[in-house]
Amino acid sequence: MLGINLRRSNKKPFFALCAFVAILFLSGQIKTPIGNIQDSLEGERVWTKGRRKAGSHTHARYGLRVLAEQHKAEQLEQHIYRNDGLLQVNPNGPHPIFELIKRAQTSWDRKLERASTTLQEAVDEYYHRYERLPPRGFDDWWAYVQEHNVQLPDEYDQIFNDLEPFWGMNPKELQKIQRDWEAHADSFTVGKDMFDEPLSLKNYTFPSKDIGPNGLAKGAYEIMELLKDVERSIPSFRAVFSPHDNPNLHTDYELRTQALKAAKKGTFIDIDNPPKAKAVGWLSACSPESAARNQHINWGGEPFRLPRLTSKTFIHDHHKSMNPCEHPSHFLLHGQFISHGKGPVAHRTLIPQFSYGPTVVHHDITPAMPINWMEDIYPREDDPDWEDRGDARLQWRGSNTGIWHDVGLRWDLAQRARLVRWAGDGRELEDDSLAFLGLASNITVLMPAEKGKKVGRGMQAQKVRWAPAMVDAAFAGQPANCAPEMCKKLGKIFEYRQRQEMRTAGNYRYYIDVDGNGWSSRFKRLITSQALVFKSTLYPEWYMDRVAPWVHYVPVQVDLSDLWDALAFFRGDPLGNGAHEDMARSIAEAGREWSKTFWRKEDMTAYMFRLFLEYSRVMDPDRLSLSFEGVKPSAGRAGRRYTWQIAKDYDEDEDGSSSDSDFYP
Ligand SMILES: *[C@@H]1O[C@H](CO)[C@@H](O)[C@H](O)[C@H]1NC(C)=O
Ligand SMILES: *[C@@H]1O[C@H](CO)[C@@H](O)[C@H](O)[C@H]1NC(C)=O
Repeated sequence: MLGINLRRSNKKPFFALCAFVAILFLSGQIKTPIGNIQDSLEGERVWTKGRRKAGSHTHARYGLRVLAEQHKAEQLEQHIYRNDGLLQVNPNGPHPIFELIKRAQTSWDRKLERASTTLQEAVDEYYHRYERLPPRGFDDWWAYVQEHNVQLPDEYDQIFNDLEPFWGMNPKELQKIQRDWEAHADSFTVGKDMFDEPLSLKNYTFPSKDIGPNGLAKGAYEIMELLKDVERSIPSFRAVFSPHDNPNLHTDYELRTQALKAAKKGTFIDIDNPPKAKAVGWLSACSPESAARNQHINWGGEPFRLPRLTSKTFIHDHHKSMNPCEHPSHFLLHGQFISHGKGPVAHRTLIPQFSYGPTVVHHDITPAMPINWMEDIYPREDDPDWEDRGDARLQWRGSNTGIWHDVGLRWDLAQRARLVRWAGDGRELEDDSLAFLGLASNITVLMPAEKGKKVGRGMQAQKVRWAPAMVDAAFAGQPANCAPEMCKKLGKIFEYRQRQEMRTAGNYRYYIDVDGNGWSSRFKRLITSQALVFKSTLYPEWYMDRVAPWVHYVPVQVDLSDLWDALAFFRGDPLGNGAHEDMARSIAEAGREWSKTFWRKEDMTAYMFRLFLEYSRVMDPDRLSLSFEGVKPSAGRAGRRYTWQIAKDYDEDEDGSSSDSDFYP
């Protein structure tokens, strides 16, 4: 019951219950972005109420799992693996990074071992996961994957999650929505109207001077290039793309949930009668049981943390940790959200549009695009071996993108300003109430205890002593994205330094990657280097099912609250004491290896090929004729039945299955 698994059987049941209640209380509180203590208590009450009401959903969504691994000999206790994607540190446990790496490596190895090796296995796996036949052309796709040695051929859940809501809509209506959307300002449409036709740019809504391989429709040419060898295997389709960095289809949770239920039942939603909107702005993308819908959020202000609740947390599931519905402080700490205050009005219909970097609260479809893709860092001397990289500080240079800087907007809390403040720049903005974000003069750092020793609660350190020795992160160039007066102010607050040449950047062992106006396209270069990459982002990208945080890079929370700890774990304190450089180095090497084997042009082609096979099917009025029937799934579970009429009864709990949370926006 309650999804909890307390293995420490020597404890009395009563004690276990108390512990559970305490854990539940703490876990809900850790990240509360609340205005003051009074609000916080209010928030907690509402939150508890919402939780109780939520019934069986709650268990699946909030169930806590305590790590089974035991360290009896050392009397070490266990950390808590929360369902919001974070590990909550128990000071009496070992340093959590040891086990985060070990677990990640084990599950990555298992994923590799499980991968299908024949078309039959791939069909079986597809059918098992998605309960329908693969799309027509799947055999050609499989042949491409085999020929080009594309790894992990089953791991495309991102495509399923992006397209599944559209299975709950009538394709004739979808086609109409898509066609109308071609007129949307700033968009381009790629596709083919007949099976035998090659792909082309079908439509666009910018001035024709912006058309051409280097204009706003650049992406269209890149897609055509990626797919040129396989386009004849893809049925006809028209796909509208936004050329901008940011996604723009903010999701309505109730609507999306209804569409997913219809997809599951094999019926259609009635697009003329969408469900009543139950929340406004960003919150409309969140489930009624989510943390964000059940606490007070200090919109336009700062997140707040009760001083006594200072548990450290680390990411164990990067995708889940990006969800602002479960981590409401993201709404206050990232330009993607801060720029729009409480958030835009959600669309009252689901629109099939592709955008470069959707967040989990948008329903734009995620493509694999080669922007800033590189085969390797050339010349190779610009990317020295680990031991030849003389600087063991964490490096970052960039401009202050991500948000418009003007009075009235909390640009000082957007991701890039926070990063340079975290690193010690902009000291006039220091704020002791934001110590948990690393924005005060003192920091608390978990010291890298040896394996098998208790990690403790961390030590206080003065940032002026630590930062210069351990970090080299600064804005580069000139103040940007700012009103004239604010530009001057930015120039006074922050030290804008020279941009670094690749060669200079190659001297560092550690890089931090953060979002700019949208997702960070420099990640490809960083992960390809021989340095270790720390990555903090709000945008799950196309390769999320195909990469392993803690194996290939170090995941960092959006609020950077774990960055000092992770950095100190790998490179040690300012003097290098307590470092685990061997571990840093092997993740750096694994990251580079991953980049060279999982993020080639061929891997993006395989993704886009499969995406458009799926997309052309879900958009086609004769969907079932576009299934691949060449290889039948081996006997097993039944597939879906489709009746495909408008269903009126989308009862909340009807099939209130736990799988709803798998599709969670
Ligand atoms: C482009 O899209 C608009 C809006 O749907 C449509 O009216 C127009 O005919 C389309 N152009 C082409 C060339 O298909
Ligand atoms: C910061 O830490 C120093 C000791 O390292 C301590 O003396 C000082 O009071 C602390 N400041 C704050 C604001 O906590």
